[in-house]
Amino acid sequence: MKQIANSLSKQLMIDESILASWLEIPPNSEMGDLALPCFRLAKELHKSPQVIAADIADALVENELVESAVPAGPYVNFRLNRATAMEQVMRQIRDDDAFYHGAQGAGQVVAIDLSSPNIAKPFSMGHLRSTVIGTAIANLLESDSYQTLRINHLGDWGTQFGKIIVAYHRYGDEAKIKANPIQELNALYVQFHEAAQDDPSLDDEARAAFKRMEDGNEDDLRLWRWMIEVSLEEFAKTYAMLGTSFTHNLGESFYNDKMDAVVKEIQSLGLLVESDGAEVVMLEDVGLPPCLIKRSDGATLYATRDLAAALYRHKDLCADRLLYVVGGEQRLHFEQVFAVLTRMGYDFAKNCKHIAFGMMRLGGKKMSTRKGQVVRLQEVLEEAVGRAKEIINEKNPSLQNADLVAKEIGVGAVIFNDLKTNRLHDIDFSMETALAFEGETGPYVQYTHARSCSVLRKAYLLDAGVSPEQLVTHSQAIAQVDSQTVSLDDPTWELIKQLSLFPGLRNRAIDEYDPSLIAKHVLDICQAFNHFYHDCPILTADEPIRSIRLALTDAARLTIRNSLQLLGIGYPAEI
Ligand code: ARG
Repeated sequence: MKQIANSLSKQLMIDESILASWLEIPPNSEMGDLALPCFRLAKELHKSPQVIAADIADALVENELVESAVPAGPYVNFRLNRATAMEQVMRQIRDDDAFYHGAQGAGQVVAIDLSSPNIAKPFSMGHLRSTVIGTAIANLLESDSYQTLRINHLGDWGTQFGKIIVAYHRYGDEAKIKANPIQELNALYVQFHEAAQDDPSLDDEARAAFKRMEDGNEDDLRLWRWMIEVSLEEFAKTYAMLGTSFTHNLGESFYNDKMDAVVKEIQSLGLLVESDGAEVVMLEDVGLPPCLIKRSDGATLYATRDLAAALYRHKDLCADRLLYVVGGEQRLHFEQVFAVLTRMGYDFAKNCKHIAFGMMRLGGKKMSTRKGQVVRLQEVLEEAVGRAKEIINEKNPSLQNADLVAKEIGVGAVIFNDLKTNRLHDIDFSMETALAFEGETGPYVQYTHARSCSVLRKAYLLDAGVSPEQLVTHSQAIAQVDSQTVSLDDPTWELIKQLSLFPGLRNRAIDEYDPSLIAKHVLDICQAFNHFYHDCPILTADEPIRSIRLALTDAARLTIRNSLQLLGIGYPAEI
């Protein structure tokens, strides 16, 4: 597309990038590989779109990449020279750095706030979304040379701890809690909410307990520290399973000693006003409700801690851009925090972005910790891995490393199910659908990857389990083929076209913070590869076709692997 736009731009004296953005992929491939709508040119060139289309068609066929071009009303539809295009795509893939990596972000630091579960509560399916979307976005940014700070902003401070402490003293059974800490602490939290409905004074008691914590009461803090310890132990299991890592584990409490300075700064700027005893920043001129900075009893709030955290990330961690991968229900909160930063005169506020996402439903049901209807992610993951193991035992009982592969498939299924949908949409999780080897699933993609590995293993007589990474990249063979002498069939051509779209889609996924573009595209690649695999014999073909098909198999393998890597999903070489 770039090349065509370049040569057209010389001919039409129109900016190359504008032309590139006008080029379309026709709705069905019968019409051609690409199309250019000409009505937008009519005004500038003072000719009818039909006449322009005919002129452009004549000029296009001069291009070595173009096989044929026909005007169709106001459009030009054209076909590419398959062999020439293949050579170019394969050359780019071989030059791995330009195809799979970019350099847009060199020298820039992006802080990504992700996962951020709450202490003393189970790690829910809801936090899964933040973890996997945040990780995929971080991977995408890194593939474009950004330095990423992956920050786990653990919910380890706030009134909820006052509530748990009150409930612990009132209804807690120490032995029971010690035996099963997270579940019991969560149960106490639920019990507190039920009791507080009848007795509102409990809320005051909880507020007082939290205030005691903020004032440094050792007894309360000891209990709180223990809650953190048991929670982190539990979260660590989930992170190990997902393969998630962070560069920073900084809970909300980390900012306790940084809060005074922020409040003072807001005050000295004349932004702090009193409202019902509390201290707030008014934001009505930007159409937002006031941002609560300090409660009437002097306790700080979620927003205050986020302000301190933003300043820390910008000033101390030197982040140029601050991303927050947090559910859409917190939109107002982030709008307020960013508006206060702007009001404080911080220019970097315009580089702060809330990366919102929809809700995760389980069998159609919404989940909430207050009502205690939480599905523990760990259980879901363990079940997915268990089922993947059963499938493997059935399909390939002699598989080496079966436990590791089962983990990659089970966990990959859960991650892929999440990432294949645009993040803003609500998604429903069903174990059966996510784990199917057919359809738009992680296992389908992993299976296709393993299939491409297996073809290459057979071609090079490698032992089962040997990763094709150890191969001399076969795409080199392409260079030795006199491509003008071969004619490429439709399934081969479809695969080449799909592969060629990867760099453009990766760029879009980065610009839009949308990993689903990668997930959907890898499904298209897998579909194209599987058609190619069924319709075109690879190992038994005559040269030079055999070499070309093997090279394409290798290119498909590499592109599927890179996509899975970006999504944070494993890619076993054999299933
Ligand atoms: N712990 C919060 C929750 O579970 C999410 C924190 C998001 N990050 C932030 N900087 N506020 O709702």
